[in-house]
Amino acid sequence: MKTLKFCASLLSILSAATVAGSAQVAGEHYNMADQHRVKAVQDTETPAQRDARMAWWREARFGMFIHWGLYSIPAGTWNGKQVPGIGEWIMNRGTIPVADYKALASKFNPTGFNAHDIVALAKAAGMKYIVITSKHHDGFAMFESKADPFNIVDATPFHRDPIKELAEECRKQGVKLGFYYSQDQDWTAPGGAAYKTGNHDRPNHHWDTAQDGNFAEYLHKKAIPQMKELLSNYGEFPVVIWFDTPTDDMTPELAGEIVELLNQHPNLIWNNRLGGSYKGDTETPEQYIPAQGYPGRDWEACMTMNDTWGFKSYDMNFKSTETLIRNLVDIASKGGNYLLNIGPDSKGVVPAAEVERLHAVGKWLDVNGEAIYGTKPTLFGAEAGSFSKTEKDKEGKPKFIPAWNWRSTTGPDKVYIELFSWPKGSFHLDNVSREVTGAYLLADQNHTALKVTKSGNGIDVALPAKALDSIATVLVLSTK
Ligand code: GLC
Repeated sequence: MKTLKFCASLLSILSAATVAGSAQVAGEHYNMADQHRVKAVQDTETPAQRDARMAWWREARFGMFIHWGLYSIPAGTWNGKQVPGIGEWIMNRGTIPVADYKALASKFNPTGFNAHDIVALAKAAGMKYIVITSKHHDGFAMFESKADPFNIVDATPFHRDPIKELAEECRKQGVKLGFYYSQDQDWTAPGGAAYKTGNHDRPNHHWDTAQDGNFAEYLHKKAIPQMKELLSNYGEFPVVIWFDTPTDDMTPELAGEIVELLNQHPNLIWNNRLGGSYKGDTETPEQYIPAQGYPGRDWEACMTMNDTWGFKSYDMNFKSTETLIRNLVDIASKGGNYLLNIGPDSKGVVPAAEVERLHAVGKWLDVNGEAIYGTKPTLFGAEAGSFSKTEKDKEGKPKFIPAWNWRSTTGPDKVYIELFSWPKGSFHLDNVSREVTGAYLLADQNHTALKVTKSGNGIDVALPAKALDSIATVLVLSTK
């Protein structure tokens, strides 16, 4: 029976890896067997070269996403009506004509923007890198661009380059900086692509003839020149390029032209959303945490704190600090990074609800960061939950039912148990594959030794009556 059980569990791990390997992401399916005309770094590097290139990113575990642009002016309302959906999509969801949307630039003067404070906020939260929208689907560049005058320096009364100011502050404060760039959708440049919403039924899903044009020309005249500017004008940054929403317009040949540019920056990390069958470095589950991560693949769960990426004045549906911390722990226990979003308003000010939560997460990490940064995934797995024997998910597969009692992360000579619910008397752990030589609570400054006794094929760890942290108390097992 034992052998059978072992084989069954091995099979489930392999199938999970296979599924993860061909993960469907954000409208893009890539076939890793494709031979690219232009080889990407992922096609040519050795595993050791890849590990070296990804090392800082895997150590970081936690980053700040910033969605900020012209859409923060309407902030979810257009012509007096609330426009449903995520704030940065208001031009598309609101079927706003190009000229009307571009006119927002003349009103954009975010004098409340303070790069020092935003980078300091990321640091206070325990975030090790920042990814900011340099150009979103609306086509407005939040940086000085010679390639297109529709940018924050040339088209607004602000006349400053916030990307440059953030780069200077990140350099000073020791935070890494990456750029989100919408390489494919561009709703104000002729030829830029558009995902369909509402009644945008024309073949290219445009809603204004000013958007019509040739996609390759858009890439050659705007997107590729702007990516060159972003890759050349900000010193050692960006360390990450975060592509988004690829369409069928992005053929392997056109994507290959972008990859030729990326190859000139061999340490760059980029995600799986370029298009053209390139898989990039990271899976990008958006607004959810995959049941078992992506075994063997780097991945980053990007999530909002409320329900929108770009600022909406009336979205107050902020997740609790408990949810944010437990998401971070859950993600790290599955070997992923957490890219948590802030959406500054039209003055460049970060909503107070987001500032408050980030400081609280940072306080938890000040005490417990050792259990997150640079750790490896859980040695166990069943603690994350189980697959329903009856319910199906939206893809018709057995629905994963997460459990929220505890998680685990792994260090070279430590196993960390993040306890969400506090066991009475002792914590029992089965299938411990390492020899446990001691135990203590990470938040206990004296690291008082806890009694560990063998129990069946596992151990019992005696615990004090009360948790040291109501959200997550970390039990440390010293191991050989
Ligand atoms: C989706 C949205 C985009 C947002 C991104 C963040 O792709 O289209 O607005 O920037 O998610 O992951």
